[in-house]
Amino acid sequence: MDIFQKCFDYDRADKVKAMGLYPYFVPLQGHVGAEMEIGGHGLIMLGSNNYLGLTDNPYVMEKAREAIVKYGTGCTGSRFLNGTLDLHLQLEDRLARFFQKEACLTYSTGFQANLGTIGTLGGREDILYLDRKNHASIIDGARMGYAKVVKYRHNDLEHLRHILEKHTGLPGMIITDGVFSMEGDLADICGLADLAEEFGVRLMVDDAHGVGAMGRTGMGTAEHQGCHERVDLLVGTFSKSFACIGGFAAGPKGVISYLQHNARTNIFSASLPPAAVATVIAALDILEEQPELLEKVHHAAERCRNGLAAMGFNVGRSAAPIVPIIIGDDLDCFRFWKDMFDNGVFTNPVVSPAVEPGGAMLRTSYMASHTDDMIDRALDVFQEVGLRHNLIGS
Ligand SMILES: Cc1ncc(COP(=O)(O)O)c(C=O)c1O
Repeated sequence: MDIFQKCFDYDRADKVKAMGLYPYFVPLQGHVGAEMEIGGHGLIMLGSNNYLGLTDNPYVMEKAREAIVKYGTGCTGSRFLNGTLDLHLQLEDRLARFFQKEACLTYSTGFQANLGTIGTLGGREDILYLDRKNHASIIDGARMGYAKVVKYRHNDLEHLRHILEKHTGLPGMIITDGVFSMEGDLADICGLADLAEEFGVRLMVDDAHGVGAMGRTGMGTAEHQGCHERVDLLVGTFSKSFACIGGFAAGPKGVISYLQHNARTNIFSASLPPAAVATVIAALDILEEQPELLEKVHHAAERCRNGLAAMGFNVGRSAAPIVPIIIGDDLDCFRFWKDMFDNGVFTNPVVSPAVEPGGAMLRTSYMASHTDDMIDRALDVFQEVGLRHNLIGS
């Protein structure tokens, strides 16, 4: 038997392609903005995580350009050895201050941040308590370490309490997404912090979609809920609001130092390139100077969420700039996606394993640069296409 056989037998993608419904790897042409050109057509972009709309901000782009001129295009080494620039240290210092944590370590992606942080902290004696809907990188990080992993039902604090009671006295950490990435619903971080304190375990929040998008100043979901200081370890990404790529962990000095010297995804992988580091610093400058961008992104999301709900779409429990339209069947979802796309609205179809089988959805996400007019035009298309696909009544 050939190890490649499963690949040669894999026909799921080809079948969807043959039906003319394949929605993935669509090449975008030009800047990722609120409106884009794809294949010669103009589309309203409701499929990007560019929440603050900074990927083509002139100041941010200029800072990235300056960094290339000063430092070159790459560091060609890990942070540990030859890949630390003064710029990395400056960014980590800025992030620690911005997130009001003692120290911070950057990684080259948010996925690596979770693998490295969770995989390193989870030792043989430890228990990791994971929400069942946590992001793949949290699940994989937990698999990488030696800790026992226990999952609790999504956002079900009673279930988690029951599990914690069974492990009383053992060292452990509750790990949750802040904003759940597919449906845009939020973890109850204050409730999780209460349980963490009661049972003497730590709380880690991966707020990939919350940092730079949630809270009065953009510190994230815990700030939004009023318990930021009770999160022991905050993990985040630069691939969304911070308009680039990379990730970070922020928390107590001793923990960050331990990760610096032990996290394998940091030690054995090249550091963030200079342009990426400068982009994130510039995005922080803008976020600190223009916190009103946070209101703008929520305004756009709320306008669309309310419009969709009023038409009768099932928009789940979204409370962030991510709004799902829950459809159910995969092919129905692809058909709806294609009709939306052909009519000028870019969305993301999400099927299993990113959601549970039978829970296919269109995931839409919003930017500070979406105007009311763009949202209203997108809503008109949703209504027309939704009626055609019997997703809403007339
Ligand atoms: C909750 C969550 N954590 C981590 C990641 C990984 O981030 P990155 O794109 O920086 O690898 C994502 C990305 O989608 C995410 O949604």
